[in-house]
Amino acid sequence: MTSANVGIIGGTGALDLFDAYESTALTTPFGPPSARPVRIDLDGRAAWFLARHGRPHRIPPHRVNYRANLHALRTLGCTRVIAVSAVGAVDPALDNGALVAVDQLIDYTWGRAHTFSDGGSAPLRHVEFEKPYDGAVRRALIEAASESSVPLVTEGCYGATQGPRLETAAEIARLARDGCTVVGMTGMPEAGLAREIGMDYANLCVVANAAAGVADTPISEEEIHRVLASAMERVRRLLVAAVARID
Ligand code: HPA
Repeated sequence: MTSANVGIIGGTGALDLFDAYESTALTTPFGPPSARPVRIDLDGRAAWFLARHGRPHRIPPHRVNYRANLHALRTLGCTRVIAVSAVGAVDPALDNGALVAVDQLIDYTWGRAHTFSDGGSAPLRHVEFEKPYDGAVRRALIEAASESSVPLVTEGCYGATQGPRLETAAEIARLARDGCTVVGMTGMPEAGLAREIGMDYANLCVVANAAAGVADTPISEEEIHRVLASAMERVRRLLVAAVARID
């Protein structure tokens, strides 16, 4: 099996995408990651998988140690990251279960440890972030989708909210005015930290529900989990095909 330079960060509903055949206990200068990274096999290609909210799923979005998670994957040799993230659809054209490889983001989170340039001995860096997901990993997802006939929306703007509560209708209307097409609670600081630490990062978003006020029906957590579970086979197929294309 090839060595693993790809890390997959699995969010809500994406805990058991692949069978693990080895796990590693490690810590970082920022503390331990959310869970032990596990080695997975994607049709002969090794990767590392990290459960963003811990295993079992228990760490809320504002308490995820994003710095430790990315640092741990980097230490294991990952220079490429695919995040799998549950989102709400701000754009009413996005159906439940749709997959979106977002190309932009707006950060509405606050109070999170959001940078590695945090004083101390590390040099102060102002990383360039014009195109937060612009790299070979997102391109691999897009090529893999067309090759494996998995429908994928290839553009979108991710609005990162604080959570863990869902948003008000007015908050979602504001996100729509700002240009967001999907909303989630974990996309930042994850993407910014990946850029700071030199990892090529893409966010594969899975639409779990219409965001607040976008549809007539109220959002139900049960329904979110049902939608995510039914999307995971497509996510798995897309990840296998994408990872095979990543150098
Ligand atoms: N809002 C924020 N995060 C989410 C949602 C939502 O509606 N659905 C899944 N993650």
